[in-house]
Amino acid sequence: MSRDYIVHNDESEVGDIVWWKESVVYQIYPSSFKDSDGDGYGDLQGIYEKLDYLENLGVDVIWLCPIYDSPGHDNGYDIRDYYGILRKYGTMEDFDRLLAEAHKRGLKIMMDLVLNHTSDEHAWFAESRSSKMNPKRDYYIWRSGKNGQVPNNWESYFGGSVWKHDPETNEYYLHLYSEQQPDLNWNNAQMAEEMYEMVHWWLEKGVDGFRFDAVAHIAKAEGLPSAHNPDNLPVVPAYQLFSNLEQVHSILKKLNNMILKPYGPMTVGETSGLGPEQALAYVGTDRDELNMVFQFEHMFIDAKSSGIGKWNYKEWKLTDLKEIMSRWQTVLHGRGWNANYMGNHDQPRPVSRFGDDGKYRVRSAQMLATWMLTLEGTPYIYQGEEIGMTNVAFPNIEQYRDIETKNYFNHYIGQGKSKHEVMQAIWLKSRDNARTPMQWDETEHAGFTQGQPWIQVNDNYPEINVADAESDPQSILHYYRKLIALRKQHKVLIYGAYELLLPDDPDIYAYTRTLDDEQMLVILNFRGHEPEMHWPEGWTSEHAKLIISNVSRRYSTDEGAIQLQPYEARVYRKQR
Ligand code: GLC
Repeated sequence: MSRDYIVHNDESEVGDIVWWKESVVYQIYPSSFKDSDGDGYGDLQGIYEKLDYLENLGVDVIWLCPIYDSPGHDNGYDIRDYYGILRKYGTMEDFDRLLAEAHKRGLKIMMDLVLNHTSDEHAWFAESRSSKMNPKRDYYIWRSGKNGQVPNNWESYFGGSVWKHDPETNEYYLHLYSEQQPDLNWNNAQMAEEMYEMVHWWLEKGVDGFRFDAVAHIAKAEGLPSAHNPDNLPVVPAYQLFSNLEQVHSILKKLNNMILKPYGPMTVGETSGLGPEQALAYVGTDRDELNMVFQFEHMFIDAKSSGIGKWNYKEWKLTDLKEIMSRWQTVLHGRGWNANYMGNHDQPRPVSRFGDDGKYRVRSAQMLATWMLTLEGTPYIYQGEEIGMTNVAFPNIEQYRDIETKNYFNHYIGQGKSKHEVMQAIWLKSRDNARTPMQWDETEHAGFTQGQPWIQVNDNYPEINVADAESDPQSILHYYRKLIALRKQHKVLIYGAYELLLPDDPDIYAYTRTLDDEQMLVILNFRGHEPEMHWPEGWTSEHAKLIISNVSRRYSTDEGAIQLQPYEARVYRKQR
C-alpha cells in the first residue's frame, strides 16, 4: 500500500495487561435499544441516554450493530454507505457525540463492519451492474449462467440459490445472504484498497474495535465449483467452498498489518464452521490476524445440521455443550483468546434456549450469566440478557420482521409444510426472538418508544423490565453487576486455566479455574431438579469460600455431598 498511515503507539498491551482480555462487552442492536424521538426505531441519542445504565452495569465496551446508512433489508447488515449514519439513527454528529461521551466515561465503542457484502443500493453496485465494461464490474462476483441455469448449486444462508439474475447485463451476481446483499470480490485489489481505507477512516475517528461480520466468507473457492450433490437437488449447502479459506487469512493479515495494528483496536471475527484448532489460524498469538473469533459450534447444538439446518430442531444435551465449550477453553488457552457468548441478535434468547423461561427464569438466567462470566475469554452480553428477556412467539408471520425468518416461512409453506409446523420452528429459532425492543419499564411499549415500535414488544414486559430489576436486589440485573465486578476483582477468572469436572454428568456443569496458587470452583446446575455432586479432589467444605451464588444459602457449605437447588450456580474460592 502506497499511503503512509499515521502510526500511533500500540497501547493494547501494557505489561501483562491486555485491555480487551479484561473487558466485558455489551452488544447493542440499535433499532431495538432505545428510541429517543418517537419514530419507533432505537437511535444513537437513545443509546447516549442509557450510558449511565451501561456504566452502572460495569461493562467496558459497547459493540454497536451496524448503524451505517442502509435500506434495511437485513437491518443494517446491508450497507449502502460505509461513511454515513442511517438517518433513523441520527447523524454523524450524534455518533461523534456518543463516542466522545462514552470515552469520557471510560467506555469503548466497537463497530460492526460488513466486509463480505454491501447493499445492492451501494453506489459501487449501481456502477458494477450497469455494464460489463464498468471499472467497478469486478468489485462484485458476476458470472454468466450455465445452459440457462445458475452458475453453481450453492445454497444461500437465507434460502434459495446464491445467484441472482440481473437482466441489465444478462449475468448473475453472487449473494451468500439475501439478494439485496451482493458479495464483494476480494480478488479485486482496488475494491480491497477502498475497504482498507474505510476501516482506517473509522480508526482515525477514534473507534476502539471492530466485529467483522461474516468475515469467514470473504474468500470463495477458486472457480466457484458446485458442491457435492448426490441427490441432484437444485441447491445444496456448500459452506466448505466459501468458509475459512486460506485467502481469508492473507486478507486479514494485510488488514491487520497495514491498518489495524498501529491503533491496537479490539477485533473479533464472525467465523462459522470451524473448531478451535482451525480458529488458531485467526487468533493464534503468532498469527497477526484477529484477537478473537465468534465460534458457532454451541449455537448448532439444538439443530440437526449447521447453517440453514438451524431450523430443524433437535433436543440438546448438556454433555455436548460441555464438550464443545471445554474444547474451546483448553485448545485456545495460552495460544489464543476466546469470545464467549450464549446469545446475540441472530440467536434465540439464552434463558429460553438453555435455561427455563417459566418458573425458574430468574434463577436460570443468573446461572447462565455465572457460566459466561467465569470462562476464560472475553464475555459478550447481548442487550436484554441482563434482565432475562425471553423468546417471543408471535402468532402470525406478519408480525415478524426478519428477512431470514420470512424467507424460511415462504419457502416451506411453498413446499407444502403446515403453517403450524413452520411457526413452531420460528418460535424456537427466529432471529426476531432477540430483536424485540429492550424492556425498560412497565409503561406502554416497555418504555422503548413513545411511538409505534418497528417490531412489537414482548408481551411479558410488565414483569420483565429494567425498572423492576433495578428495584429488586435479587434481580438478574443486580446479579450481573456483582458478577462483572467479581470478574474484575479476581484475575484467576480472567486468565486462569480451565479444567472440566464431571464430563459425563447430564445435569451439572462444573469446572475449576486456576492461576498460580489461586483456584476457583464453578458449579452450575442446568436443570429444574436437585442433583448432587461430591466435592472434587483437592476441595473440602472447610477450605471453600462461597463468593457468589444465585441461591441464598441457609448453611454456608455442604459437607460431603453438595446438594444443588434447581438452576443453582455457585462459585467457590479455595482458601489456603
Ligand atoms: C451476520 C450477522 C447477521 C447478518 C449476516 C449477513 O451473520 O450477524 O445478522 O444477517 O451476517 O450480514
